[in-house]
Amino acid sequence: MSADHVLIAHLSDLHFGGYADLAQIEALEEFLPSLGAGAAVVSGDLSQRARHGEFQAAHAFLHRLRSHTPVLLVPGNHDIEWWRSPLGLLGNERKYRKYIGYFGDLTPVLEVPGAIIAGALSSYGVALGSLTWNIRDVAVKGHLPASETERVTAIFAQASPLAARVLVFHHNVLPGAMSRRMGLARWRSAHRRLLATGADVILCGHDHQEGAGQIEGALAVSTSGTHSSRVRGGRPSVFNLVKIDARAVHIQHFRWQPESRQFQRSDTYSFARAGPPRVAVSVAGGDQGL
Ligand SMILES: [Fe+2]
Ligand SMILES: [Fe+2]
Repeated sequence: MSADHVLIAHLSDLHFGGYADLAQIEALEEFLPSLGAGAAVVSGDLSQRARHGEFQAAHAFLHRLRSHTPVLLVPGNHDIEWWRSPLGLLGNERKYRKYIGYFGDLTPVLEVPGAIIAGALSSYGVALGSLTWNIRDVAVKGHLPASETERVTAIFAQASPLAARVLVFHHNVLPGAMSRRMGLARWRSAHRRLLATGADVILCGHDHQEGAGQIEGALAVSTSGTHSSRVRGGRPSVFNLVKIDARAVHIQHFRWQPESRQFQRSDTYSFARAGPPRVAVSVAGGDQGL
């Protein structure tokens, strides 16, 4: 990190439990400190079934990461015990009790030099706001209530005008390149409200495939992949390094190479920050365009 930009390592969907790829986890622990990021973000799905052992493995990983850089995380749909309060009928506290016990705040805010990073909650399990007509979506889809976008808007409004505004939640806000699916229910409304938050970039995951794009050509979105065996189409896992400077948001993919057991620097996408002119300054790279 330097005075004219901020660097954020963006990971997602570690899925400790049956599916985490330990070779990747160990490589991340060694490699991430070398990137010099001012913060690291994990955008949910730390676990597979919100089990104690899974959360404990995630906690140990995050503890080691925190010895190098501040870390912010939010829960994914796999990290909440939604069955303890289906449709929220028994209150929300039951769903999140175990996650909060290990990781604290559901909607943390982290200030680092050059940026304010705010977490928002999109994981509610089987909840009215997340229901769609697709039975496959039960307990998988997320939603972003107006109360969440309003809360984040107020946080960003009070931040230093010089700080980059980074918004983190779990569910993908752009369609996956292969899945073609949205992580959020009622995404059109979410897009409108997200554009009004004042965010410079959204960091999300859930789709298990990396992406870099924009909402309506105005708000950059970094979607990080998974470090589990549950990748889409057998493609290599990817995490993102997000660089925000005065003019643009740059999203760099780092692609896992199983043969060498290393992450390789890969495609980069650059998007102008919000405010005129609202156009992408460049789009470069191989096969990841959305
Ligand atoms: Fe996931
Ligand atoms: Fe997920």
